[in-house]
Amino acid sequence: MLKIFPDSSSIADYVSAMLVAKIQAKPDAVLGLATGGTMEPIYAKFVAAARHTELDVSRLTSFNLDEYIGLSADHPKSYAAYMQEHLFRHLAFDAARLHLPDGLAQDLNAHCRSYSGKLQSAGGIDLQLLGVGGNGHIGFNEPGTAFDCPCHVVELAEQTRIDNSRFFAEGKIVPVSAITMGMAEIMQAREIVLVATGEAKARIVAEWYQGGITEAIPFTVLKRHPAATIIVDAAAASLLPEEATQQRLVANG
Ligand code: GLP
Repeated sequence: MLKIFPDSSSIADYVSAMLVAKIQAKPDAVLGLATGGTMEPIYAKFVAAARHTELDVSRLTSFNLDEYIGLSADHPKSYAAYMQEHLFRHLAFDAARLHLPDGLAQDLNAHCRSYSGKLQSAGGIDLQLLGVGGNGHIGFNEPGTAFDCPCHVVELAEQTRIDNSRFFAEGKIVPVSAITMGMAEIMQAREIVLVATGEAKARIVAEWYQGGITEAIPFTVLKRHPAATIIVDAAAASLLPEEATQQRLVANG
């Protein structure tokens, strides 16, 4: 299902309300969490809404999608640090239930197997949040990744490293590799919400809409998921064919 909102702020309202409702209905839910600029306004609104509604987050379990290899959890550009800054430190989570891949794991492949195992033992993901890379990656599953691939080590695509260099200080090298939850684990989530905002995502959103399902654009696999919602703002929808935009806007009132 495709939903088009005017801007990232209205998307943040919608997704944070959806998260609050989900957690109220199932306080011990398992969430799949994403990082990136797209998620920042969503986490900010969620933190405010959770405080306002006195939401109990202490029984939640979370699994983050990915982490850079070579960055420790306290490195300011690690995804562990991102999650602390934008979400975890603001609410009374149980730290023992918050999982991220370890970018400093000695045996990376064994760590990937253990991360997958923990996720399965937790019963899989109830709600997976996703952003999308400019090349269509989800998590760090780059174009060409097999759809049945579990958690694995990935060499980052050049475009991904260029896109993400904006988060690193000038002159600092963007890591070359990462650990990512696999396409298989993402697709096992019972519900998926992918958010794409801004003009930089317009081309990939249009390719997703118009094309078939292909490993060349990892994001297209979501067309196979029975409960995946793709939420875009007007800028990310700007290259969609007009009939698609009209239809969806009407559908969304
Ligand atoms: C990053 C992350 C993804 C994220 C995507 C989009 O590389 N690994 O999980 O969804 O790229 O990031 P942004 O929201 O900053 O555009």
